[in-house]
Amino acid sequence: MAEILDGKRVAETLRGELKDRVASFVSKRGRAPGLDVVIVGDDPASHVYVRAKEKASTEVGMRGRVHRLAVDTTELALLTLLETLNADDAVDGILVQLPLPKHIDETKVLDTISPWKDVDGFHPENAGLLAVGRPRLVPCTPMGCMRLLEVAKVSLAGLRAVVVGRSNIVGKPVAQLLLAQHATVTIAHSRTKDLAAVCREADVLVAAVGRAEMIGADFVKEGAVVLDVGINRIDAPELGAGKTRLVGDVRFDEVAKVARAITPVPGGLGPMTIACLLANTLHAAELRVGR
Ligand code: GUN
Repeated sequence: MAEILDGKRVAETLRGELKDRVASFVSKRGRAPGLDVVIVGDDPASHVYVRAKEKASTEVGMRGRVHRLAVDTTELALLTLLETLNADDAVDGILVQLPLPKHIDETKVLDTISPWKDVDGFHPENAGLLAVGRPRLVPCTPMGCMRLLEVAKVSLAGLRAVVVGRSNIVGKPVAQLLLAQHATVTIAHSRTKDLAAVCREADVLVAAVGRAEMIGADFVKEGAVVLDVGINRIDAPELGAGKTRLVGDVRFDEVAKVARAITPVPGGLGPMTIACLLANTLHAAELRVGR
């Protein structure tokens, strides 16, 4: 049976470390690091994530603020708000929750956030810096993946890593981070031929496809380390009529029988992502104003 990589516990440790560093920032700078989260529209899941980010930031002693904008907010109004936050010295981190309503151009929005305040690490300048081996602000979920591999004492040099999913949010940046640690990295995706065989090559398998329980035991080599980034809500009639439950991209029960270590959903990369967002906010504050 695989070791369970307990993201909840590791995230708690990380938040404890951050609390001390935030206190030291406050005593030197006379203000708390500030995180501003912007959400447009009323997607219930996105609102849950945003509340969790706000709560986590205040718990470590940061100033957390959420801008909740109506679904019919214009692109111009959103860009104007971002320019205001860019210019505000008390704002260290800016995050626009995705997805955005269809009438707003996501690329334009992400390009408008100051790269120095881009705590998601989605700005092309930060993505480019990561790609050339000079990471500055790195996307939160990939950072959480690396931290869990470190805790699991996975020595990546020379190992085969397969990342399933090629998004800018997870797939591409996590591949860059694994490569920087000298893994041999394959990025697979929905059009990859014989995906199961490609995945079976992996010593480290990162599932970031967003398809509920797609990765079964037949995708996993005996003794592999499996990181499940998926958060999918599925119907769960066994819990009662109309009930749902959260599952990852990995069939946990069967994969846990062959893997050496595996992250659960929930309680794996979810809490790690939020803790890494806080780490990025403090890092962004220190980059702009010093420690
Ligand atoms: N929506 C889903 N994941 C993310 C994320 O990491 N950052 C933002 N801003 N929105 C998301």
